[in-house]
Amino acid sequence: MITQSDAGKSWLDRYGPWAVVTGASDGIGREIVRDLAQRGLNVVLVARRGELLDQIATEVRQSNFIETRVIVADLGKAEDVEQALLDCEALDVGLFVASAGFGTAGNFLATDVEDEIDMLDVNCRAVLVMAKDFSARFARRKKGGLIFFGSIVGFQGVGNAAHYAATKAYIQTLAEGLAIDLKPFGIDVLSCAPGPVETGFATRSNLSPANSADPRSVARETIAALGRKTTVKPGILSKVLINSLATLPRFVRTMILSAIMASRTKHHDGSKAQSRPKQSA
Ligand SMILES: NC(=O)c1ccc[n+]([C@@H]2O[C@H](COP(=O)([O-])OP(=O)(O)OC[C@H]3O[C@@H](n4cnc5c(N)ncnc54)[C@H](OP(=O)(O)O)[C@@H]3O)[C@@H](O)[C@H]2O)c1
Repeated sequence: MITQSDAGKSWLDRYGPWAVVTGASDGIGREIVRDLAQRGLNVVLVARRGELLDQIATEVRQSNFIETRVIVADLGKAEDVEQALLDCEALDVGLFVASAGFGTAGNFLATDVEDEIDMLDVNCRAVLVMAKDFSARFARRKKGGLIFFGSIVGFQGVGNAAHYAATKAYIQTLAEGLAIDLKPFGIDVLSCAPGPVETGFATRSNLSPANSADPRSVARETIAALGRKTTVKPGILSKVLINSLATLPRFVRTMILSAIMASRTKHHDGSKAQSRPKQSA
């Protein structure tokens, strides 16, 4: 009989001893860090806001007797991505969680091209480069896990979030393909596709609030799904929405989600670009 502690041990053995979590300073990534620390994994926390990373690192170290490292990196910059990977080289990493990301919203004509390129770099390029590095490392040790963050908007085109939805479609497609390629090497791949989650994401993306899931339960459901499926739709809302939309033709899904997004961006001033607030660190 497998006891709770045996199950915990084999989970740790499979995905430990170190996990790297991007977007660890806030939102879902921060809750993932807390969840992994409770499971006994040592955690590398990656994001731009070092002070927040230090705070969460101290919290999880003190309450779980684990080790932590903090890497301050802007994942929109190729050199920071390379440096973050170098900083992880000496650690025995078994799990990579790519939670860092942001969205642009509003009519495509009114968004700023620099913001769009930055989003492509953070949401896609950094994920690709880091997943390539970690999957090669995990293949050598014949075990490990990759967790990506897609979205409910990643299953069809969405007006008023056209490019953000495209970045999430990229992630969803990448995850589904990698799950096949990496399975023979003992590597589990998971895409988490949430609906709205109650984090700072909506504010940072200049979206009005929506009926949102709690980030802690999203993190818990995501971690629990690793190794069991390829896509997790955390929370009742995302399950109901994705599963009911899946029965409709793609263009109908596009119309429905575009209408939802239009209502969440109707406060925008369409005459000028909705430029993304820049981080100070
Ligand atoms: N919340 C939602 O409604 C929702 C729905 C579907 C999918 N998602 C996806 O879920 C993931 C997590 O979202 P969330 O809700 O947790 O968002 P969040 O609360 O806004 O947190 C985003 C995290 O990403 C980090 N980040 C952003 N830009 C970065 C950059 N250039 N370099 C390094 N780190 C960066 C932020 O840290 P710093 O600012 O400190 O760098 C922060 O830790 C994202 O990929 C998002 O697209 C979210």
